[in-house]
Amino acid sequence: MAECYANMGPVGNQGGDMPQLERPPAGTAADPFAALGGNRSDCLSVRDDRLFVEDCDAAGLVERFGSPIFVTSETQLRANVRRFRQAFEGAWPDGPVDVLPAFKANTTLATRHILSDEGAGADVYSPQELTGVLGTGVDPERVSVNGGGKSREHLRDCVGAGVRITVEDVHEIDLVQEVAAELGATARIRFRVKPVVPGLWRRTDFSQLTVPIDLGIQVYKSGIPPEYLVDMGHRVFDMPNVELVGLHLHAGRHHPSLWFWRGLMTHYARLIGELSRAWDGWRPSEIDVGGGMASPRDPHNREFPRSEFIATALGYPFLVALRSLGDRLYHAALSRIVTALTKPPEPETPPTLEAYAATIAGTLRGELHRQGVPTEGVRLQTEPGRALYGDTGVHLARVKVVKRQTQPIPYCWVLTDTTVFFLAGGVLEHNRHPLVVANRAAEAATMSADVVGHSCYADQIVLGARLPAVEAGDVLAILETGAYQESSASNFNALPRPATVLVHGADAEIVKTAESGDDVYARDRVPDRVRTSPRGVRPETGA
Ligand SMILES: Cc1ncc(COP(=O)(O)O)c(C=O)c1O
Repeated sequence: MAECYANMGPVGNQGGDMPQLERPPAGTAADPFAALGGNRSDCLSVRDDRLFVEDCDAAGLVERFGSPIFVTSETQLRANVRRFRQAFEGAWPDGPVDVLPAFKANTTLATRHILSDEGAGADVYSPQELTGVLGTGVDPERVSVNGGGKSREHLRDCVGAGVRITVEDVHEIDLVQEVAAELGATARIRFRVKPVVPGLWRRTDFSQLTVPIDLGIQVYKSGIPPEYLVDMGHRVFDMPNVELVGLHLHAGRHHPSLWFWRGLMTHYARLIGELSRAWDGWRPSEIDVGGGMASPRDPHNREFPRSEFIATALGYPFLVALRSLGDRLYHAALSRIVTALTKPPEPETPPTLEAYAATIAGTLRGELHRQGVPTEGVRLQTEPGRALYGDTGVHLARVKVVKRQTQPIPYCWVLTDTTVFFLAGGVLEHNRHPLVVANRAAEAATMSADVVGHSCYADQIVLGARLPAVEAGDVLAILETGAYQESSASNFNALPRPATVLVHGADAEIVKTAESGDDVYARDRVPDRVRTSPRGVRPETGA
């Protein structure tokens, strides 16, 4: 896989007005970013042993706004979207480039306003996402409405707003024609395709099991199976109110390597060539390559090492056999095995954004030309989620308790006041979030512990984290939480969801308020029939 990681390098400051921030030298014992590989956020720095997000002291943000909180760096977000656009523009000389960040990854409206201000479009799914994005002044022609099973009402709103409808279902084109005719409008659509990719044999990151990427793509629900496309195109060409302007592919984050993107883009371009030939030389005026690029620290720092499946499958019978050794030896062996299994995997650095752009655009362009499909004037679109938002976010939480046991196996937990239920998007995909102790950021790691949340679940946020000697009250910065975490947070254990703070230089302000205890129950309605009264004052205590 060596070729996959060529051109690696640190995230550069391509954003124009990015403030100059101090950085520690990489790789020293006390460098909290050493475990992050070559890539780190420009918005993070360490000053006098304390973590800063832009020019704000992270632990100070907790003192000011409470704990836990999500923090977003405006400067990082602006830099990332500019860098995305520049990277793809540099690799696609034939036509315009649009960056359509996946709104689902971060539905905070202030964040979205910043992206609209930067001229970015959007990938949206639900009617509510569409409303949220349109309210930020985005150019509707740069909005792609994705998703299967769109309702008639949703499609009517899409046509009325003039956004791109990315068709997922065979019957959707008929519904689009109906609502567009009712509105006397022309609906501009793209087909979301699902090419067959037999060459992509490596293991997909979507599954903890060993599933090859080509199978992973086939069993994923999204995308129109190729067998329907030719006929759908012919039907659309006969529709008076529908125009097929392009094609769309989002395969997902199966593999961070350039090898994956080369294979995917080759198959995509071949499918476009086949369709062009079947449709009498039709050519797309826009091609959307979707998202799925790894963000600078993701997903190589996965919570479980790749060997986890084999270790579990073979390890269990082995553990059962070990029981015959008696309790003492059994637990001694268990302790070693647990240490090995929770050892942090070596961080690997994904390709840079520029390398992704060169591979994606270059492969697509080259193969389209081989297929006889000209690319002059064709608009190239990309829909990054993680790679755009990931390193713009930091989740801050306080340590509540450091808990240890020595028998029957030694173990240590750092219990925080947050929970995996606030970080669900990352947990679902087994992210191993890098950690920095915000108020001891330059201290060397001296302990190993599971960083856990305070819900009643095991609530494992990071297994086997290497940390300085933390104590109750310390502030943990859980990095790489700008994409999918806040937007998928839930209220399990009736925990109110945290606030989000936007940082810009030395300024910080709340852009999403924390829920209160009352908010958690705000949607509940108790019928009188089942209502019981709260217990009254207890007479013996007067309380
Ligand atoms: C249609 C579409 N585009 C873009 C994205 C963003 O993907 P990622 O966060 O992997 O870049 C998604 C995520 O699921 C998606 O469904």
